Formats: sequence, structure tokens, C-alpha cells
Amino acid sequence: MNNRGRQFSKNAQGRSGRGKRKGNLKWLSLGIVFMVLVIAAPLMINGILSNMGKALMVSAEEYLPAVQIRPIQEAVWVYHTAPPAAAVQPTAASPTAQPAESPAAETTGEPNGGRVIDPNQKMVALTFDDGPYTPVTKRIVKTLEAYNGRGTFFVVGNRVKDYSKILKRTYDGGHQIATHTWSHKNLKKLSEHGVAAQVTKSMEAIKSVIGENPTLLRPPYGAVDKTVKQRVKDAGGLALVNWSVDSKDWKYKNADTIVKTIMDNVKDGDIVLMHDLYESTAEAVEKLVPKLVEKGYQLVTVEELYTTRGDTLEAGTLHFKNPPGPD
Ligand code: NI
Repeated sequence: MNNRGRQFSKNAQGRSGRGKRKGNLKWLSLGIVFMVLVIAAPLMINGILSNMGKALMVSAEEYLPAVQIRPIQEAVWVYHTAPPAAAVQPTAASPTAQPAESPAAETTGEPNGGRVIDPNQKMVALTFDDGPYTPVTKRIVKTLEAYNGRGTFFVVGNRVKDYSKILKRTYDGGHQIATHTWSHKNLKKLSEHGVAAQVTKSMEAIKSVIGENPTLLRPPYGAVDKTVKQRVKDAGGLALVNWSVDSKDWKYKNADTIVKTIMDNVKDGDIVLMHDLYESTAEAVEKLVPKLVEKGYQLVTVEELYTTRGDTLEAGTLHFKNPPGPD
């Protein structure tokens, strides 16, 4: 018994003896029970519920929590960041990986922007989510083009207006623009109307800048099920694309670790997940691209990964890599 307890007992006994002390204890007990019911129980229930919610979201949060998306800072950033030209030069160890002499940006309109893609050679589709974000997107685009490669950008619709200039530049360079929904919502948790709004609003925003509708959607957190696929198809006629190699760039935020993660796992036909939000991802791409080219990979868009091999990306279907199948 501590001092307070001893003091309480003394007072209780001193004032009115054993019976009254029992009465006091009874009221004290009732008070505690009351407090538990009124205050603690709702908190406990809430705790249990949020734990359940968290458990349900584990796979989602493992990827990119929405809160990690940087706020738009257009006024500070746009078009004032020069890309580090030196960083895209091939290394001495990779003499075969030469930057393309003339960027194919001028030749869009022809198939694959005028690039020759050999369906019998290795290819990989580098994909970038959650942008655009000018300082990073711009570096990635220039690096890919310097090696005659193109990427696929799954943009968040509500960022399109603020980053319209880099989005248009990316599209004009022959890269593929696709949607990552309007506001990065988990489509499995939305109503039919909610999914439709996420799809159509983002498609309209993209079309208003590049002049055509996207044909692919990457569901935020990779969260997809049969219902989501059907709703995405109904709302926009889009095919769904996830990935077969996860760079975990949002977690590592270290160029060398990101490059190693990809190089250790990449195979012909893979779709690689990255995010054009982080400087470390731009740096990783500058190191990664020459390595992939040296290994014989053609850097293609998701659409090119399928069409050059005679395959299609059908509306309402989910794709990870081409050819599909187990790792
Ligand atoms: Ni995302």
C-alpha cells in the first residue's frame, strides 16, 4: 500500500469505522466501473477498430502513403532547376551505353516516336507514379531520352493543372502519360460513383493538357479487385497496370540502393515501379539507365512493351509484366 492508500484507509477508519469504510470502497469501485464504461470503453473500442483498419491497410501502406506526396510548390520550383547534364553520361565501365545522338522528341507521330524497338531483344518498362513534380520529372525524362528510352508516367489528376508544362513536355517527348486517379484514393474503398469520379476527373485533366485520353490506370497502393477492374472499365475503358519490380524508392531515398534493388531483380518484360517525387529517384534513374542499356535492355513504355510483341492491354484487365506469368 502506498502513502496515499494508507492515508485513505486511516481517514476512512478514523471517521466512522469498518462499515463506512466498506461503503466508501463500494462507491469507489462503482466510480471506477463507471469511468471505465464511460471513458475507457469507447477509447478501447476505437483502438480496436483502428487496429483492424490498419491491419486491412498493411499492403497498401507498404507502398506509398498518400501523406508522403509532397505539396505542390510550383511557384518555387518550376523550370528553374537545370538537369545535371554530366550525370547522364555513360560510365567508363559501360562503353556500349551511349546517349542517343538525336533525341526522338522531334519524331513523335511515327510509331514509337521513330525509335526502332526489337521485339526479340530484352525490354523493360520504367514507370513513375504520383507526379508530375517538375524538378524530378524533368531529370528523368531527359535521362531516358538521352539513351533513346521512354518511360510511363502515372500522374495524379489533381496535380495536372499545376504541373501542366512538364506534363506536356513529357508527352511531347514520346513518353506515355497514364492516370493514377484524381486524388490518390484507394479504389477498393470507394463506391461505384467514387471510382468513376476518380477515373473521369483525372482523364479530363490529362486530356486538357496533352490532347488525348490516357488508356492505362495504376490503382493507388496497387489496390485492385474484380469490382475495381469492372468500375475502371465502365468509367473510362482503361486497362490497369501494376508492377513486377518494386524499387521501394520512396522508402530507401538513396540512389545506389534503388539502383541495386532494380538491377538485382529486373528481367525481360518487367514493369518497374518508381515515383517521380524524390531527388534520389532522379539520381537513381541517371545511374540506372546506362546500366540497363549496357545489359541490353530497351527502355520502353508500358504500351510499347505490349504492342511491339503483338500483345494488347485490354480495358478492365490487370497487368504486371509482359509476358505475364510467375517470377
Ligand atoms: Ni501512388
